[in-house]
Amino acid sequence: MTIPTTDSRAATVFPLCDGAHAAATCAAAPSIAENACLVRSNDWVNAEYKHLVLTAPDLALTARAGQFFHLACPASNDDTPYLRRPMSIYCVNAGDQRIEFLYKVQGAGTRGLAQLGPGDTLDALGPLGKGFTLPANANDAHVLLLARGVGLATMAPLASEAIATGAHVTAVLSARTPALMMSADTLHETGATVVMVTDDEQTSDVVQVERLIRGIHAGRPITFATTCGSNRLLAMLQRLAAQLGIPGEVALEQRMGCGIGACYACVRPFRKHAQSDELSYRRVCWDGPVFDLQETTSW
Ligand SMILES: Cc1cc2nc3c(=O)[nH]c(=O)nc-3n(C[C@H](O)[C@H](O)[C@H](O)COP(=O)(O)OP(=O)(O)OC[C@H]3O[C@@H](n4cnc5c(N)ncnc54)[C@H](O)[C@@H]3O)c2cc1C
Ligand code: FES
Repeated sequence: MTIPTTDSRAATVFPLCDGAHAAATCAAAPSIAENACLVRSNDWVNAEYKHLVLTAPDLALTARAGQFFHLACPASNDDTPYLRRPMSIYCVNAGDQRIEFLYKVQGAGTRGLAQLGPGDTLDALGPLGKGFTLPANANDAHVLLLARGVGLATMAPLASEAIATGAHVTAVLSARTPALMMSADTLHETGATVVMVTDDEQTSDVVQVERLIRGIHAGRPITFATTCGSNRLLAMLQRLAAQLGIPGEVALEQRMGCGIGACYACVRPFRKHAQSDELSYRRVCWDGPVFDLQETTSW
């Protein structure tokens, strides 16, 4: 089905329901679409990452923090990416019909993306997956964002959503070098307290980050802890949050095929519930990519 729009952009919409989802959930579930987006800009932000800004159809503008799009990366002379590539939403601005991605150029798919220029089109399937679920009561809420690498892109919209609910946000950002540190200005502008640690400055090892978070918690109790982008930081935060009784969520990355729950290429083991030794197997694309912090198994 093609939705008529006022300009050349169009969206092919697939209302999604499958046996794994209750009828009530299906009725409430938003549709996803192959959104034909128009490239506004696609600039390098450092030696490894590019910032892609797109004009997008209305449905794409409903994306929430932690959700992702499955991008049909263009072919080039050297590469023909076969499957779509998953990419977290970095920014959504409905008033300006704009969605943004921050991506690391590393293989065939992202090299293809890197070639896009203003005026090109990009097919973005989504919004996909389940995003972050902030606690309902924002009174005295203090949300911790702990991010490294591509996780810096995933966490940026969460800060805006949390601050809009009245929560205080502290973002601990980790990178190899200061030059690879991203999102700090954006997070600071949204009102988050930003703390940066790097390998170069020898401030990013797990022991120091744990000490840092304990200090942050002592100054203002953390009520919700989130993380993305590093297995060792995930394992530390799980242990610390369990010890301090802080609920939380993690956004996972996983190689994907379909991105819509059909092929089971992205299945991973999870604890059945926080304290359980029993495992259940879930699709990262469909049941996540955001999961309960304590149910997630690190790798
Ligand atoms: C839900 C989700 C959100 C993501 N959000 C972002 C984002 O905001 N910014 C960003 O830069 N990247 C993000 N990624 C990772 C991104 O999908 C991969 O970097 C991309 O698919 C690589 O494609 P490629 O063809 O360029 O590289 P490939 O040649 O396919 O792989 C290059 C390297 O990237 C690794 N890789 C490939 N696919 C994935 C994947 N799905 N997850 C983790 N590692 C992968 C490979 O193991 C390999 O080391 C996200 C992944 C997921 C699952
Ligand atoms: S990628 Fe196909 S089920 Fe997740």
